[in-house]
Amino acid sequence: MSARPVDYTSRYLSGNYEPVFDEVEAADLEVTGEIPSDLSGHFLRIGPNPYFVPDMDRYHIFDGDGMIHSVTFSEGQASYRNKFIDSKGLREEREKGEWIYPGLNLFGDVIARGEMPKSKNTGNTAMVFHQGKLFGLMEGGTPYEVSLPDLTTVGEHDFDGTLDHNFTAHPKVDAKTGEMMTFGYSPFPPYLTYSVVSAEGRAVHTQEITIPKGIMMHDCAITAHYTIFPDLPLVFDFDKLLKGESMIGWEPENGCRIGVVPRFGSDESIHWFEIEESFLFHVANAWEDGDEIVLQACRSDRGAIEMSADRDVREQMGRLHEWRLNLKTGAVSSKLLLANDYCDFPRIQDDLVGYQNRFTYAARFRVNEGATFDAELKYDHQTGAVQVHEFGPDKESGEAVFAPKRNAQSEDDGYVICFVNDIHDRSCECHIIDAQNFDGPAVARIKIPSRVPHGFHASWVPG
Ligand SMILES: [Fe+2]
Repeated sequence: MSARPVDYTSRYLSGNYEPVFDEVEAADLEVTGEIPSDLSGHFLRIGPNPYFVPDMDRYHIFDGDGMIHSVTFSEGQASYRNKFIDSKGLREEREKGEWIYPGLNLFGDVIARGEMPKSKNTGNTAMVFHQGKLFGLMEGGTPYEVSLPDLTTVGEHDFDGTLDHNFTAHPKVDAKTGEMMTFGYSPFPPYLTYSVVSAEGRAVHTQEITIPKGIMMHDCAITAHYTIFPDLPLVFDFDKLLKGESMIGWEPENGCRIGVVPRFGSDESIHWFEIEESFLFHVANAWEDGDEIVLQACRSDRGAIEMSADRDVREQMGRLHEWRLNLKTGAVSSKLLLANDYCDFPRIQDDLVGYQNRFTYAARFRVNEGATFDAELKYDHQTGAVQVHEFGPDKESGEAVFAPKRNAQSEDDGYVICFVNDIHDRSCECHIIDAQNFDGPAVARIKIPSRVPHGFHASWVPG
Protein backbone atom coordinates (compact mmCIF):
# COMPACT_ATOMS: atom_id res chain seq x y z
CA MET A 1 0.00 0.00 0.00
CA SER A 2 1.29 3.44 -0.79
CA ALA A 3 1.10 6.74 1.05
CA ARG A 4 -2.39 8.26 1.07
CA PRO A 5 -2.45 11.82 2.48
CA VAL A 6 -5.78 12.96 3.98
CA ASP A 7 -6.90 16.05 5.92
CA TYR A 8 -8.03 15.06 9.38
CA THR A 9 -10.04 16.96 11.95
CA SER A 10 -10.86 14.40 14.67
CA ARG A 11 -8.55 14.39 17.67
CA TYR A 12 -8.03 10.67 17.15
CA LEU A 13 -6.91 11.24 13.58
CA SER A 14 -4.42 14.02 14.24
CA GLY A 15 -1.10 14.43 16.03
CA ASN A 16 0.43 11.03 16.62
CA TYR A 17 -2.98 9.37 16.15
CA GLU A 18 -2.74 10.22 12.43
CA PRO A 19 -2.65 6.91 10.57
CA VAL A 20 0.21 5.71 8.40
CA PHE A 21 -0.31 3.93 5.09
CA ASP A 22 3.10 2.61 4.15
CA GLU A 23 3.96 -0.95 5.13
CA VAL A 24 7.66 -0.98 5.95
CA GLU A 25 10.33 -3.61 6.53
CA ALA A 26 13.69 -2.47 7.89
CA ALA A 27 16.75 -4.14 9.39
CA ASP A 28 20.04 -2.79 10.79
CA LEU A 29 18.20 -0.23 12.89
CA GLU A 30 20.07 2.56 14.65
CA VAL A 31 20.58 1.62 18.31
CA THR A 32 21.64 3.69 21.30
CA GLY A 33 23.06 1.30 23.89
CA GLU A 34 23.15 -2.43 23.28
CA ILE A 35 20.40 -4.92 22.47
CA PRO A 36 20.82 -7.79 24.96
CA SER A 37 21.99 -11.02 23.32
CA ASP A 38 19.70 -13.05 25.64
CA LEU A 39 16.58 -11.34 24.25
CA SER A 40 14.98 -13.27 21.42
CA GLY A 41 11.46 -12.82 20.07
CA HIS A 42 8.91 -10.36 18.77
CA PHE A 43 7.64 -7.19 20.42
CA LEU A 44 4.25 -6.49 18.83
CA ARG A 45 1.96 -3.50 19.15
CA ILE A 46 -1.48 -3.28 17.51
CA GLY A 47 -3.85 -0.38 17.11
CA PRO A 48 -6.44 1.41 14.99
CA ASN A 49 -5.14 2.83 11.73
CA PRO A 50 -8.11 3.77 9.51
CA TYR A 51 -7.68 3.39 5.77
CA PHE A 52 -11.01 5.08 4.92
CA VAL A 53 -12.90 7.39 7.29
CA PRO A 54 -16.63 8.01 6.66
CA ASP A 55 -16.81 11.21 8.72
CA MET A 56 -13.64 13.01 9.79
CA ASP A 57 -15.34 14.75 12.73
CA ARG A 58 -17.20 11.74 14.08
CA TYR A 59 -14.50 9.09 13.82
CA HIS A 60 -14.33 6.82 16.87
CA ILE A 61 -10.93 5.52 17.91
CA PHE A 62 -12.33 1.97 18.18
CA ASP A 63 -13.17 1.97 14.44
CA GLY A 64 -9.77 2.10 12.73
CA ASP A 65 -8.46 -0.81 10.68
CA GLY A 66 -5.98 -2.93 12.60
CA MET A 67 -2.27 -2.41 12.08
CA ILE A 68 0.53 -4.35 13.77
CA HIS A 69 3.99 -2.87 14.35
CA SER A 70 6.69 -5.40 15.27
CA VAL A 71 10.28 -5.28 16.43
CA THR A 72 12.02 -8.64 16.16
CA PHE A 73 15.09 -9.30 18.32
CA SER A 74 17.70 -11.94 17.59
CA GLU A 75 21.42 -12.21 18.42
CA GLY A 76 21.63 -8.59 19.55
CA GLN A 77 20.01 -7.28 16.33
CA ALA A 78 16.57 -5.76 15.70
CA SER A 79 14.33 -5.46 12.67
CA TYR A 80 11.03 -3.60 12.23
CA ARG A 81 7.86 -4.28 10.24
CA ASN A 82 4.34 -2.89 10.14
CA LYS A 83 1.33 -4.24 8.29
CA PHE A 84 -2.43 -3.81 8.16
CA ILE A 85 -4.69 -6.62 9.34
CA ASP A 86 -6.05 -7.45 5.92
CA SER A 87 -9.60 -7.93 7.17
CA LYS A 88 -12.54 -8.91 4.99
CA GLY A 89 -14.05 -5.45 5.56
CA LEU A 90 -10.88 -3.60 4.61
CA ARG A 91 -10.57 -5.70 1.45
CA GLU A 92 -14.14 -4.86 0.46
CA GLU A 93 -13.54 -1.17 1.07
CA ARG A 94 -10.27 -1.13 -0.85
CA GLU A 95 -11.91 -2.91 -3.77
CA LYS A 96 -14.69 -0.31 -3.77
CA GLY A 97 -12.25 2.54 -3.23
CA GLU A 98 -14.26 4.10 -0.38
CA TRP A 99 -15.73 3.35 3.03
CA ILE A 100 -18.57 0.84 3.48
CA TYR A 101 -18.71 0.43 7.26
CA PRO A 102 -19.99 3.54 9.07
CA GLY A 103 -18.32 3.17 12.49
CA LEU A 104 -19.69 3.52 16.04
CA ASN A 105 -20.59 7.20 16.00
CA LEU A 106 -22.65 6.87 12.82
CA PHE A 107 -24.68 3.82 13.87
CA GLY A 108 -27.56 6.05 15.08
CA ASP A 109 -27.80 7.75 11.67
CA VAL A 110 -28.01 4.38 9.93
CA ILE A 111 -30.70 3.08 12.32
CA ALA A 112 -32.66 6.31 11.95
CA ARG A 113 -32.77 5.56 8.20
CA GLY A 114 -34.38 2.20 9.05
CA GLU A 115 -31.27 0.19 8.21
CA MET A 116 -29.11 -2.08 10.34
CA PRO A 117 -25.52 -0.77 10.66
CA LYS A 118 -22.82 -3.15 9.51
CA SER A 119 -19.80 -3.40 11.75
CA LYS A 120 -16.33 -4.27 10.54
CA ASN A 121 -14.18 -6.85 12.30
CA THR A 122 -10.90 -4.96 12.16
CA GLY A 123 -8.89 -7.11 14.59
CA ASN A 124 -7.42 -3.82 15.86
CA THR A 125 -7.39 -4.16 19.65
CA ALA A 126 -5.06 -6.79 21.05
CA MET A 127 -3.26 -10.01 20.17
CA VAL A 128 -2.93 -13.45 21.68
CA PHE A 129 -0.44 -16.22 20.90
CA HIS A 130 -1.98 -19.69 21.17
CA GLN A 131 -1.25 -23.11 19.61
CA GLY A 132 1.83 -21.52 18.02
CA LYS A 133 -0.38 -19.01 16.18
CA LEU A 134 -0.70 -15.25 16.54
CA PHE A 135 -4.21 -13.77 16.48
CA GLY A 136 -5.28 -10.16 16.03
CA LEU A 137 -8.42 -9.57 18.08
CA MET A 138 -11.38 -7.23 18.28
CA GLU A 139 -14.22 -7.95 20.67
CA GLY A 140 -16.92 -7.60 18.03
CA GLY A 141 -15.68 -10.41 15.81
CA THR A 142 -13.67 -13.54 15.14
CA PRO A 143 -9.87 -13.67 15.62
CA TYR A 144 -7.66 -13.03 12.60
CA GLU A 145 -4.68 -15.35 12.33
CA VAL A 146 -1.51 -13.44 11.43
CA SER A 147 1.77 -15.13 10.47
CA LEU A 148 5.11 -14.33 12.09
CA PRO A 149 7.52 -12.76 11.45
CA ASP A 150 6.04 -11.29 8.25
CA LEU A 151 2.65 -10.16 9.74
CA THR A 152 0.67 -11.49 6.76
CA THR A 153 -3.04 -11.98 7.50
CA VAL A 154 -3.91 -15.66 7.10
CA GLY A 155 -7.66 -15.15 7.67
CA GLU A 156 -10.43 -15.45 10.24
CA HIS A 157 -10.09 -18.40 12.57
CA ASP A 158 -13.10 -20.22 14.06
CA PHE A 159 -11.21 -22.99 15.90
CA ASP A 160 -12.24 -25.80 13.54
CA GLY A 161 -15.79 -24.51 13.46
CA THR A 162 -16.20 -24.94 17.21
CA LEU A 163 -16.52 -21.25 18.10
CA ASP A 164 -19.72 -19.42 17.18
CA HIS A 165 -19.67 -16.27 19.29
CA ASN A 166 -17.75 -13.00 19.34
CA PHE A 167 -14.30 -13.30 20.84
CA THR A 168 -12.95 -10.85 23.43
CA ALA A 169 -9.72 -8.96 22.72
CA HIS A 170 -8.49 -10.23 26.12
CA PRO A 171 -8.71 -14.02 26.34
CA LYS A 172 -6.54 -15.58 29.02
CA VAL A 173 -4.11 -18.44 28.36
CA ASP A 174 -3.19 -20.79 31.20
CA ALA A 175 0.46 -21.52 30.42
CA LYS A 176 0.37 -24.68 32.58
CA THR A 177 -2.49 -26.36 30.66
CA GLY A 178 -2.39 -24.51 27.34
CA GLU A 179 -6.14 -23.81 27.66
CA MET A 180 -7.45 -20.43 26.56
CA MET A 181 -10.49 -18.92 28.28
CA THR A 182 -12.52 -16.49 26.20
CA PHE A 183 -15.94 -14.88 25.97
CA GLY A 184 -18.13 -12.82 23.70
CA TYR A 185 -20.72 -10.23 24.66
CA SER A 186 -23.66 -8.89 22.76
CA PRO A 187 -26.22 -6.06 23.11
CA PHE A 188 -28.87 -8.74 22.47
CA PRO A 189 -29.47 -11.98 24.44
CA PRO A 190 -27.52 -14.05 25.16
CA TYR A 191 -25.57 -11.09 26.55
CA LEU A 192 -22.53 -13.13 27.59
CA THR A 193 -21.15 -16.43 26.27
CA TYR A 194 -18.08 -18.12 27.71
CA SER A 195 -15.82 -20.72 26.09
CA VAL A 196 -12.75 -22.74 26.94
CA VAL A 197 -10.48 -23.42 23.94
CA SER A 198 -8.28 -26.48 24.39
CA ALA A 199 -4.52 -26.47 23.90
CA GLU A 200 -5.22 -28.16 20.56
CA GLY A 201 -7.35 -25.21 19.44
CA ARG A 202 -10.97 -26.38 19.75
CA ALA A 203 -13.72 -24.83 21.87
CA VAL A 204 -14.41 -27.72 24.25
CA HIS A 205 -16.80 -25.97 26.65
CA THR A 206 -19.27 -23.20 25.77
CA GLN A 207 -21.71 -21.75 28.27
CA GLU A 208 -24.14 -18.84 28.23
CA ILE A 209 -23.81 -16.72 31.38
CA THR A 210 -26.87 -14.84 32.62
CA ILE A 211 -26.42 -11.13 33.29
CA PRO A 212 -29.24 -8.57 33.59
CA LYS A 213 -28.42 -6.28 30.66
CA GLY A 214 -26.24 -6.09 27.58
CA ILE A 215 -23.00 -4.45 28.59
CA MET A 216 -19.59 -3.76 27.16
CA MET A 217 -17.29 -6.21 28.98
CA HIS A 218 -13.72 -5.64 27.91
CA ASP A 219 -11.66 -8.09 29.97
CA CYS A 220 -11.84 -11.21 32.11
CA ALA A 221 -9.50 -13.03 34.50
CA ILE A 222 -8.62 -16.62 35.27
CA THR A 223 -7.23 -18.60 38.16
CA ALA A 224 -6.14 -22.24 38.11
CA HIS A 225 -9.77 -23.39 38.53
CA TYR A 226 -12.03 -20.40 37.83
CA THR A 227 -12.85 -17.76 35.23
CA ILE A 228 -13.86 -14.29 36.39
CA PHE A 229 -16.25 -11.86 34.67
CA PRO A 230 -16.65 -8.18 35.65
CA ASP A 231 -20.33 -7.27 35.08
CA LEU A 232 -19.96 -3.49 35.30
CA PRO A 233 -22.56 -1.01 34.05
CA LEU A 234 -21.34 0.22 30.68
CA VAL A 235 -24.80 -0.58 29.37
CA PHE A 236 -26.06 -0.62 25.77
CA ASP A 237 -28.91 1.85 25.36
CA PHE A 238 -30.57 1.98 21.94
CA ASP A 239 -32.91 4.84 22.91
CA LYS A 240 -29.85 7.03 23.42
CA LEU A 241 -28.41 5.85 20.13
CA LEU A 242 -31.54 6.96 18.28
CA LYS A 243 -31.23 10.39 19.93
CA GLY A 244 -27.75 10.71 18.44
CA GLU A 245 -26.00 10.02 21.75
CA SER A 246 -23.51 7.30 22.59
CA MET A 247 -25.12 3.87 22.56
CA ILE A 248 -23.10 2.85 25.62
CA GLY A 249 -23.86 4.71 28.85
CA TRP A 250 -22.81 4.50 32.51
CA GLU A 251 -25.78 3.13 34.47
CA PRO A 252 -24.63 2.33 38.02
CA GLU A 253 -28.21 1.45 39.00
CA ASN A 254 -27.63 -1.78 37.01
CA GLY A 255 -25.21 -2.80 39.80
CA CYS A 256 -21.53 -3.72 39.85
CA ARG A 257 -20.65 -7.34 40.38
CA ILE A 258 -17.92 -9.84 39.71
CA GLY A 259 -18.80 -13.39 38.67
CA VAL A 260 -16.57 -16.37 39.43
CA VAL A 261 -17.36 -19.55 37.52
CA PRO A 262 -15.48 -22.87 37.65
CA ARG A 263 -13.39 -23.27 34.49
CA PHE A 264 -15.77 -25.89 33.12
CA GLY A 265 -18.77 -24.69 35.15
CA SER A 266 -22.39 -24.00 34.25
CA ASP A 267 -24.41 -20.79 34.50
CA GLU A 268 -25.87 -22.12 37.78
CA SER A 269 -22.41 -22.65 39.32
CA ILE A 270 -21.32 -19.01 39.10
CA HIS A 271 -20.73 -17.05 42.35
CA TRP A 272 -21.65 -13.36 42.07
CA PHE A 273 -20.02 -10.78 44.34
CA GLU A 274 -21.46 -7.25 44.60
CA ILE A 275 -18.76 -4.57 44.60
CA GLU A 276 -18.67 -0.79 44.95
CA GLU A 277 -19.42 1.41 41.94
CA SER A 278 -16.41 0.70 39.76
CA PHE A 279 -15.18 0.17 36.30
CA LEU A 280 -12.18 -1.66 34.95
CA PHE A 281 -10.95 -1.92 31.41
CA HIS A 282 -7.98 -4.15 32.19
CA VAL A 283 -7.18 -6.94 34.60
CA ALA A 284 -3.62 -7.30 35.91
CA ASN A 285 -4.01 -10.85 37.25
CA ALA A 286 -6.01 -13.13 39.51
CA TRP A 287 -5.23 -16.20 41.58
CA GLU A 288 -6.56 -18.44 44.33
CA ASP A 289 -5.51 -17.94 47.94
CA GLY A 290 -7.27 -20.53 50.15
CA ASP A 291 -11.02 -19.82 49.91
CA GLU A 292 -10.38 -16.46 48.32
CA ILE A 293 -10.07 -15.29 44.75
CA VAL A 294 -7.61 -12.38 44.50
CA LEU A 295 -8.37 -10.08 41.57
CA GLN A 296 -6.09 -7.18 40.67
CA ALA A 297 -7.01 -4.65 38.01
CA CYS A 298 -6.82 -0.97 37.11
CA ARG A 299 -10.04 0.30 38.71
CA SER A 300 -11.71 3.65 37.99
CA ASP A 301 -14.70 5.29 39.71
CA ARG A 302 -16.80 5.23 36.56
CA GLY A 303 -16.63 3.93 33.04
CA ALA A 304 -17.03 5.44 29.60
CA ILE A 305 -15.72 4.56 26.18
CA GLU A 306 -14.26 8.04 25.73
CA MET A 307 -12.82 10.56 28.14
CA SER A 308 -15.49 13.24 28.65
CA ALA A 309 -14.31 16.82 28.58
CA ASP A 310 -16.97 17.90 31.12
CA ARG A 311 -15.77 15.62 33.94
CA ASP A 312 -12.57 15.26 35.91
CA VAL A 313 -10.58 12.85 33.73
CA ARG A 314 -9.28 11.13 36.87
CA GLU A 315 -12.75 9.63 37.47
CA GLN A 316 -12.18 7.48 34.41
CA MET A 317 -8.50 6.73 34.90
CA GLY A 318 -7.54 3.48 36.56
CA ARG A 319 -5.42 2.86 39.62
CA LEU A 320 -4.03 -0.51 40.60
CA HIS A 321 -6.58 -2.18 42.88
CA GLU A 322 -7.22 -5.50 44.58
CA TRP A 323 -10.46 -7.27 45.40
CA ARG A 324 -10.60 -10.43 47.53
CA LEU A 325 -13.68 -12.56 46.97
CA ASN A 326 -14.35 -15.32 49.51
CA LEU A 327 -16.02 -18.28 47.81
CA LYS A 328 -16.98 -19.82 51.17
CA THR A 329 -18.43 -16.81 53.00
CA GLY A 330 -19.34 -14.51 50.09
CA ALA A 331 -17.34 -11.69 51.73
CA VAL A 332 -15.68 -9.04 49.53
CA SER A 333 -12.78 -6.80 50.46
CA SER A 334 -11.48 -3.98 48.31
CA LYS A 335 -8.12 -2.22 48.52
CA LEU A 336 -6.30 0.45 46.53
CA LEU A 337 -2.73 -0.76 45.92
CA LEU A 338 -1.23 2.29 44.27
CA ALA A 339 -2.81 5.53 45.49
CA ASN A 340 -0.69 8.13 43.73
CA ASP A 341 -0.29 6.81 40.22
CA TYR A 342 -3.07 6.59 37.65
CA CYS A 343 -2.23 3.80 35.27
CA ASP A 344 -3.54 1.25 32.80
CA PHE A 345 -2.31 -1.54 30.51
CA PRO A 346 -1.20 -3.66 33.52
CA ARG A 347 1.05 -6.57 32.54
CA ILE A 348 2.86 -9.39 34.30
CA GLN A 349 5.17 -12.23 33.33
CA ASP A 350 2.78 -13.95 30.88
CA ASP A 351 3.39 -17.49 32.18
CA LEU A 352 1.96 -16.45 35.58
CA VAL A 353 -1.48 -15.46 34.29
CA GLY A 354 -3.91 -17.09 36.76
CA TYR A 355 -1.21 -17.75 39.36
CA GLN A 356 0.23 -15.52 42.07
CA ASN A 357 2.74 -13.02 40.74
CA ARG A 358 5.03 -10.64 42.59
CA PHE A 359 5.58 -7.91 39.99
CA THR A 360 3.07 -5.91 37.98
CA TYR A 361 4.07 -3.44 35.26
CA ALA A 362 1.74 -0.68 34.01
CA ALA A 363 1.77 2.49 31.90
CA ARG A 364 1.38 5.67 33.99
CA PHE A 365 -1.14 8.25 32.84
CA ARG A 366 -0.07 11.80 32.27
CA VAL A 367 -3.11 13.39 33.91
CA ASN A 368 -4.35 16.00 31.46
CA GLU A 369 -7.41 16.35 29.28
CA GLY A 370 -6.79 13.05 27.55
CA ALA A 371 -5.20 9.69 28.02
CA THR A 372 -1.50 9.76 27.33
CA PHE A 373 1.25 7.92 29.17
CA ASP A 374 4.59 9.33 30.27
CA ALA A 375 6.21 6.55 32.34
CA GLU A 376 6.13 2.84 33.09
CA LEU A 377 5.63 1.51 36.63
CA LYS A 378 6.91 -1.62 38.32
CA TYR A 379 4.96 -2.59 41.44
CA ASP A 380 6.32 -5.13 43.94
CA HIS A 381 3.42 -6.81 45.74
CA GLN A 382 5.74 -8.30 48.34
CA THR A 383 7.23 -5.00 49.55
CA GLY A 384 4.62 -2.51 48.29
CA ALA A 385 7.43 -0.60 46.57
CA VAL A 386 6.87 1.07 43.22
CA GLN A 387 9.61 1.98 40.79
CA VAL A 388 9.06 4.49 38.00
CA HIS A 389 10.79 4.56 34.63
CA GLU A 390 10.28 8.14 33.43
CA PHE A 391 10.50 9.10 29.76
CA GLY A 392 10.44 12.86 30.28
CA PRO A 393 8.02 15.68 29.45
CA ASP A 394 8.47 15.45 25.67
CA LYS A 395 7.77 11.73 25.38
CA GLU A 396 4.72 9.48 25.35
CA SER A 397 4.70 5.74 25.82
CA GLY A 398 1.99 3.08 25.89
CA GLU A 399 1.59 -0.54 26.85
CA ALA A 400 4.84 -2.28 27.77
CA VAL A 401 5.41 -6.03 27.83
CA PHE A 402 7.63 -8.12 30.04
CA ALA A 403 10.03 -10.33 28.02
CA PRO A 404 11.93 -12.95 30.06
CA LYS A 405 15.63 -13.40 29.35
CA ARG A 406 16.67 -16.68 27.81
CA ASN A 407 17.16 -19.02 30.84
CA ALA A 408 15.58 -16.50 33.23
CA GLN A 409 16.31 -17.27 36.89
CA SER A 410 13.52 -15.31 38.60
CA GLU A 411 10.18 -13.61 37.91
CA ASP A 412 11.67 -10.25 36.93
CA ASP A 413 14.78 -11.61 35.19
CA GLY A 414 14.10 -10.00 31.84
CA TYR A 415 13.19 -6.81 30.02
CA VAL A 416 10.32 -4.37 29.83
CA ILE A 417 9.78 -3.22 26.25
CA CYS A 418 7.62 -0.44 24.80
CA PHE A 419 7.42 2.20 22.09
CA VAL A 420 8.23 5.79 23.06
CA ASN A 421 7.13 8.71 20.86
CA ASP A 422 8.53 12.23 20.78
CA ILE A 423 5.63 14.71 21.02
CA HIS A 424 7.38 17.29 18.83
CA ASP A 425 8.78 15.46 15.83
CA ARG A 426 6.65 12.30 16.37
CA SER A 427 9.66 10.05 15.96
CA CYS A 428 9.50 6.68 17.66
CA GLU A 429 11.96 4.52 19.52
CA CYS A 430 11.58 1.04 20.98
CA HIS A 431 12.99 1.03 24.51
CA ILE A 432 14.38 -2.03 26.28
CA ILE A 433 14.48 -1.59 30.07
CA ASP A 434 16.26 -4.02 32.38
CA ALA A 435 13.41 -5.08 34.71
CA GLN A 436 15.89 -5.52 37.59
CA ASN A 437 17.29 -2.00 37.08
CA PHE A 438 13.90 -0.54 36.29
CA ASP A 439 14.48 3.09 37.16
CA GLY A 440 17.87 3.12 35.43
CA PRO A 441 18.37 4.20 31.81
CA ALA A 442 17.10 1.93 29.05
CA VAL A 443 19.70 -0.65 28.02
CA ALA A 444 18.81 -0.02 24.38
CA ARG A 445 16.82 2.56 22.42
CA ILE A 446 16.10 1.44 18.88
CA LYS A 447 15.17 4.10 16.34
CA ILE A 448 12.10 3.06 14.33
CA PRO A 449 12.58 4.29 10.75
CA SER A 450 8.96 5.39 10.27
CA ARG A 451 6.27 6.89 12.50
CA VAL A 452 4.35 4.58 14.84
CA PRO A 453 0.94 6.08 15.69
CA HIS A 454 -0.48 5.67 19.20
CA GLY A 455 -2.20 2.34 19.51
CA PHE A 456 -3.81 -0.08 21.88
CA HIS A 457 -2.19 -3.29 23.12
CA ALA A 458 1.24 -4.90 22.97
CA SER A 459 2.36 -8.54 23.08
CA TRP A 460 5.56 -10.47 23.46
CA VAL A 461 6.10 -13.68 21.47
CA PRO A 462 9.36 -15.44 22.35
CA GLY A 463 11.21 -17.13 19.54
FE1 LIG B 1 -7.97 -3.60 26.08
